[in-house]
Amino acid sequence: MAEALIVFASLTGNTEEMADIVAERLETHDITTDVVEVMQADAEDFLEYDAVLIGSYTYGVDGVLPDEMLDFYDDLGELDLSDKVFGVFGSGDTYYEIFCGAVDHFEKQFLKTGAHPGGASCKINLNAEGEDIERLQALADGIAEKLNQ
Ligand SMILES: Cc1cc2nc3c(=O)[nH]c(=O)nc-3n(C[C@H](O)[C@H](O)[C@H](O)COP(=O)(O)O)c2cc1C
Repeated sequence: MAEALIVFASLTGNTEEMADIVAERLETHDITTDVVEVMQADAEDFLEYDAVLIGSYTYGVDGVLPDEMLDFYDDLGELDLSDKVFGVFGSGDTYYEIFCGAVDHFEKQFLKTGAHPGGASCKINLNAEGEDIERLQALADGIAEKLNQ
């Protein structure tokens, strides 16, 4: 059975909630999914999984990564994940000039590892509701589809 790892950073719970939504949907495709907070994870952990996902909120006036994501981000860039499918999602706030910048950063970093996108990255304003949830579920569905190819 395929296995997925979702690593997330979440200050106020929005991104964590999204991680749970994605995990639940992956499980409906019989993909065993672990959800781990970034401080408890190493980028190398991804090597043990078929699908690798990151959920990150965005922080700072210039739309940068949260502090707790910095080491993970650097280590991720060193990996060869060319046999993996990836997904990225995260919460932000449209009030800020750079909306969900962390999602773009991680998408680029995953592409650098050679990993294959499972679906469109999800940038979500604050907490996920309605169509946001559908986009997160579509990402999980896309990952499942890619794994079955
Ligand atoms: C000081 C500060 C800076 C922020 N900077 C940005 C930003 O540049 N871009 C953005 O999209 N959101 C920004 N946010 C909004 C957070 O990403 C947003 O509140 C998000 O829902 C937090 O997700 P979490 O609940 O998973 O922690 C900022 C929030 C704070 C408190």
